[in-house]
Order: sequence, then C-alpha cells, then structure tokens
Amino acid sequence: MFAASVVAALLALPFTSVAATDCARTYTVKAGDYCDQISAQNNASTYQLAVTNHPTINDGCNNLQPGQQLCLGFVDQDCTNTYVVQGGDTCEGVASNHGINATLFNINNPQLHAECDNLYIGEVVCVGGGPAVPPLPSGAPMPAATIPPGAAPATPTKEAPPPPAPSATPAPADDDDEDCDDDEDEGDDDENDDDLPFCDEL
Ligand SMILES: *[C@@H]1O[C@H](CO)[C@@H](O)[C@H](O)[C@H]1NC(C)=O
Ligand SMILES: *[C@@H]1O[C@H](CO)[C@@H](O)[C@H](O)[C@H]1NC(C)=O
Repeated sequence: MFAASVVAALLALPFTSVAATDCARTYTVKAGDYCDQISAQNNASTYQLAVTNHPTINDGCNNLQPGQQLCLGFVDQDCTNTYVVQGGDTCEGVASNHGINATLFNINNPQLHAECDNLYIGEVVCVGGGPAVPPLPSGAPMPAATIPPGAAPATPTKEAPPPPAPSATPAPADDDDEDCDDDEDEGDDDENDDDLPFCDEL
C-alpha cells in the first residue's frame, strides 16, 4: 500500500514540479547588487528570492556574480506584491496595513517567527492577497530565519513587559470568597476567619 502510493507520487512528480518551477521572471545581477536590494527593486520577497534560487544563491547571499541570471519567481508561485520593512514595523502592523490577516501573512512569509522577533529593517515581505510563494525545498535552510549580520530588528525588543493598561471596567467581584466577606458585614471578629481555613488563602 505504502510503496504503491510512493510510486504513484513519484510518477506524478515530474508533471507538477516542471510546471511549478518554470521561471516567471528573471533578473541579471549587476555589480554592487545584494539580495534584499534586488528583492526590493523587483518585488520579489526575501524568502521568495532565496527559495527560487536555492542553492545557486548561498545562505548569506554573498556569492552573487555580475551577469549572473536569477529567477525572481516561479510560475503560479510568484508573489509580486511586496513591502520593504521599515524601523518600528511589526508583523501584525504590516499585515493589517495591507488588509491581510496573520494566517495569510505567515503563509507567504514562512521565515517569520510567530513572535515576529526576526523581522528586520530592509527585509522584503510578501503582502499579496492570496497564498503565492513557493514551498521551502526539502533540505534547504529557511532563509532569513535569523536577523542577518549588520541588519537591525524592525521591532525594538522590550526590556520589560509594559505595565498592564489601566482597566476601564473594574475587575469582576470574586464570588468565591463570599463567606469570608460576609464575616465582616456581620460584624464578626476577624479572628473568626481563622476557623475557616480557606479564608487565609484568599
Ligand atoms: C513593484 O511594485 C510597485 C508597486 O505595485 C510598482 O510600482 C513597481 O513598478 C513594481 N516594480 C517592478 C519591478 O515590478
Ligand atoms: C485569511 O485571509 C484569507 C484570504 O482572504 C482567507 O482565505 C482566510 O480564510 C483568512 N483566515 C482567517 C483565519 O481569517
């Protein structure tokens, strides 16, 4: 059963993978180019440019050669609606500014952590309105999984969590300790609470 389904999957693979990896757009590298600049100028996200050119472009993107031809996006897996991250941006903010929900934003930018702590200034993210980017090839490292050397995080890290915002509505009364409260209302001596073991813990 298992072997048969693997064979079926392998037979199906050439037809789907050929179509999926046809290059939709190409770019010829110029002297002085670097990956996020190419991404920003050509509307191909940091993730997408790395994945469509894996393993030609290395992990640090420091092996570009002038004249080299890159693929900017695969047919049907090409996000052309991009945004260059600025200082102070958050994942939530970028997504909502472009009218997309967090789920779709994460599908199109799978390198970003749930906490969004690896979003960096100059990173190019996909803000398309539908799922568009290619999957990570098996065995390939996740591009921009950490903030690259020399880049700055978009969202300043907080030293301490902010104090809780004052609540507009008073906290709901705790009904569980009615018995203890009632002692006071009835004018009982406070020491009576000692007879109720649970009152000490409230
Ligand atoms: C990138 O997208 C912007 C905004 O939609 C557009 O003005 C620009 O022409 C695009 N650039 C390329 C190279 O496609
Ligand atoms: C997010 O947006 C996409 C595209 O509009 C939609 O298909 C999906 O259902 C939304 N997901 C959630 C959790 O709202």
